[in-house]
Amino acid sequence: MSEQPTIRLPTACLVVLVGPSGAGKSTWAESQFRPEQIVSSDRLRALVGEGPYDQKAGKDAFDVLDLVLTRRINRRLLTVVDTLGLDAARRTAYLALARKHGLPCHAVLFDTPASQCRERNRRRDRPVPAKVLSDQIRAMAGARASLPSEGFDVVSEAGPVVVVPTAMVDAPIFAHRQREQPMALRFGLQVPSFTWAGEVAEIRDRLGGLAADAETAGFSSLWVMDHMLQIPQVGREWDPMLDSYTTLGFLAAVTRTCRIGALVTGVTYRNPAHLAKIVATLDVLSGGRAVCGLGAAWFEREHRAYGWDFPDRRERLDLLEDALRLLPLMWGPGSPPFEGHRVRIPEAICYPRPIQSHVPILVGGQGERRTLQLVARYADACNLFGTPDTVRHKLGVLARHCDDVGRAVGDIEVTHLSTVLCAPDRDVLRARLDAIRPKGANPEAFADSVNAGTFDDHIGRFRELAEAGVHTAIVSIADLATGGTADLAPGGAVAGFEPVIEAFRI
Ligand code: CTP
Ligand code: MG
Repeated sequence: MSEQPTIRLPTACLVVLVGPSGAGKSTWAESQFRPEQIVSSDRLRALVGEGPYDQKAGKDAFDVLDLVLTRRINRRLLTVVDTLGLDAARRTAYLALARKHGLPCHAVLFDTPASQCRERNRRRDRPVPAKVLSDQIRAMAGARASLPSEGFDVVSEAGPVVVVPTAMVDAPIFAHRQREQPMALRFGLQVPSFTWAGEVAEIRDRLGGLAADAETAGFSSLWVMDHMLQIPQVGREWDPMLDSYTTLGFLAAVTRTCRIGALVTGVTYRNPAHLAKIVATLDVLSGGRAVCGLGAAWFEREHRAYGWDFPDRRERLDLLEDALRLLPLMWGPGSPPFEGHRVRIPEAICYPRPIQSHVPILVGGQGERRTLQLVARYADACNLFGTPDTVRHKLGVLARHCDDVGRAVGDIEVTHLSTVLCAPDRDVLRARLDAIRPKGANPEAFADSVNAGTFDDHIGRFRELAEAGVHTAIVSIADLATGGTADLAPGGAVAGFEPVIEAFRI
């Protein structure tokens, strides 16, 4: 079986085995999957009946099997149906179940010679009657003929399996394309967490080292979040969270070429004139490398904790629009008055002005009605997230907003934020995943959430994003914060991403 090509399965899918008794289905399934991922009619016969071969328990076993499958598929858990798979009606039902939940469905065929099935069957404690096995072998020929037109996403011969995040299933095709006809893509590094091994006093050196490593690895921008408390998506609220702009001032001093910015500054935290002053200072002290990331803010809890208002979404978007209009006035000549939806500034005065004649403004968020409209009207860059399909869709919406205001959508830099976990091969990848996976987290869902992949998986995924219109991929490296072993030290993880950056340097 090992000479068969590798089967690349997405983390969420249904796998239907098809083959006569003795073909090796259960043996294969046990060698490729965890026990809880395999739903076997024989095991259920043993559970609800007198043993795996209790034919009288067949109906009950299949009732349970159908129930278990439904529940697992509903949770998008990778599931292997280990039954004969020779009944076309059952196959159709499995396929329909997967479709209903938007999950891909793969059929795996067992091309074991009939003589071998018969031989294995004879050796069994409880052989299947010879006539029954002959019927199955005949049915297998029929299944083989009809499977290609039954609607399965993939029909493959049994072989070794690799399970990859859904976003990386087609990566080999795109990685190949990147090698043949490379596209350019810039990379940014987001540092969302400072929960590193060692004392708080070591954060300074670690962060400085990390920034230097990032520049060396070829990251063209460095980003921190603008939060007072660590956000629940990343960690616990008592984890260390550095102030964004103080940290950016430090990063300005320890780097030479990277652009630096907050991804993104919450518009609710500071008077926008004060923000203009802060960003102008950062631009001066970084030698003209500041980017002003701006967003409508969302983390209500920290507003409450710090005694800030957390106005409704409409008002926050009004504030965002005010800031987008005010900032260039603050950075520009003269000291004009400004009157926005919610902000009144009698004199937009800020010296020194930034070094850059135009400090780029990046708006975070992909709300279709207002946020992307604000991007079209005022911003230099947007920041999207999600799949290539999502990116294409959002850029379509952005293009329409640009049409409305007579701006070329091509003028807007498209950035994309995602988490990555990257390793040279699958063994190292598995070790890194195991090192950071929270206790009890489902391995496939976790691998999916951090986009765990080999270099080629990442190159393919980023190529797909580049084709969708992304110019700069900002990544948060999932194991940046683990420390622990030397191999997983922050610098190691940053340097380890370099081959991916290299593949897009043209
Ligand atoms: N077997 C083997 N080498 C393989 C696969 C299977 O020697 N590559 C042996 C198994 O050890 C087992 C027998 O062949 O004793 C049948 O394999 P199994 O995986 O149980 O076959 P299934 O297709 O699951 O058969 P059934 O439909 O009866 O469950
Ligand atoms: Mg079996």
